[in-house]
Amino acid sequence: MPERRLFDSYGRIADDLRISVTDRCNFRCIYCMPAEGLKWLARDDILRYEEIVRLARIFVERYGVRTIRITGGEPLVRVKLEELVGMINAIDPTLDITMTTNGVLLRQKAQALKDAGLKRINISLDTLHMDRFQEMARSDAFVRVMDGITAAREAGLGPIKLNMVVMKGRNDDEVVDFARLARAEGYEVRFIEFMPLDGDNIWTNEQVVPSLRIQEQIEDQFPLVPYNDPRPGPATRYTFADGAPGGVGFISSVSQAFCTACNRIRLTAEGGLRTCLFSLHETPLRDLMRSGVSDDHLGSVIEGAIWRKEEGHLINKPGFIKPAKNMSQIGG
Ligand code: GTP
Ligand code: 5AD
Ligand code: SF4
Repeated sequence: MPERRLFDSYGRIADDLRISVTDRCNFRCIYCMPAEGLKWLARDDILRYEEIVRLARIFVERYGVRTIRITGGEPLVRVKLEELVGMINAIDPTLDITMTTNGVLLRQKAQALKDAGLKRINISLDTLHMDRFQEMARSDAFVRVMDGITAAREAGLGPIKLNMVVMKGRNDDEVVDFARLARAEGYEVRFIEFMPLDGDNIWTNEQVVPSLRIQEQIEDQFPLVPYNDPRPGPATRYTFADGAPGGVGFISSVSQAFCTACNRIRLTAEGGLRTCLFSLHETPLRDLMRSGVSDDHLGSVIEGAIWRKEEGHLINKPGFIKPAKNMSQIGG
């Protein structure tokens, strides 16, 4: 049993840690990164695997964190990522270790990740058309991503979740096709509202397609039944009323914020602890660790940071300030 839990001042318990292992990415999705990329962190500024594992151990053993999600940038561009998965798995093999990836390297990596202890995987996929993929991800890797999704399934990394960021006028005409794909392949497709965390400052509320509109379109064809998730998460989940495999989820960060149930905390690639996607400041842990402080000291800094977790974000409200970092620098 953990010594204690990570409470914030609003009574929420943080037990889901998202670890970004790199700020780099081999795509340039329009809702995330500028076309020209960003200035990448220097190698020494990024946490080493041993440092990540030290922090993960503190979160798991002292504070009862149960889910660790590895994110990026694109996590699989970091070399030998399966070694990190193995090291985290060695802390506690019953941990829910997961990853969010763009899928392009999964044909090479899926089996090694599974063997190292990865339990399941979420893969970004915004369109089923190659030309649109080129426009949205600014990459020609559509076929490789589709094959990567198959590779993940073959390696036993299911249940596979596909993340579709829905943008008005770009891919919102595909939502029913994505529901059809979910049914045909047994995937859970999650429709994500576009959030103001892009690198080009293109976000406007007009481009957000509210989840309820998407749900109506899907239910016209495929009636849904709510799936009551035992674990809190950002998605409102549904299965198909006719018993078809797979399901859909709606991540309605803009139209119906779910901050009151938020159990997430984030570690950036350079070791900053973020208590919200929209945090305006981070608690830097890297240099503290490198200065030789004890786990007790790190623990007290972590506890203080989580206690100060924000009540929630203010998208579309007066006082909203876009964070200086974009999604790839935070970790999604
Ligand atoms: P599961 O445990 O599989 O449900 O993972 P997940 O949905 O948390 O992870 P994933 O990385 O696939 O995230 C999908 C989308 O949900 C991304 O756009 C995330 O930014 C968003 N998301 C995840 N956690 C939060 C959160 O705490 N707040 C908000 N607003 N969005 C979040
Ligand atoms: N709004 C919503 N979701 C986003 N993602 C990246 N940028 C945004 C954004 N601006 C999603 C990606 C990925 C996950 C980690 O975050 O599609 O699946
Ligand atoms: Fe890369 Fe993910 Fe950002 Fe797309 S959303 S540019 S895949 S980090």
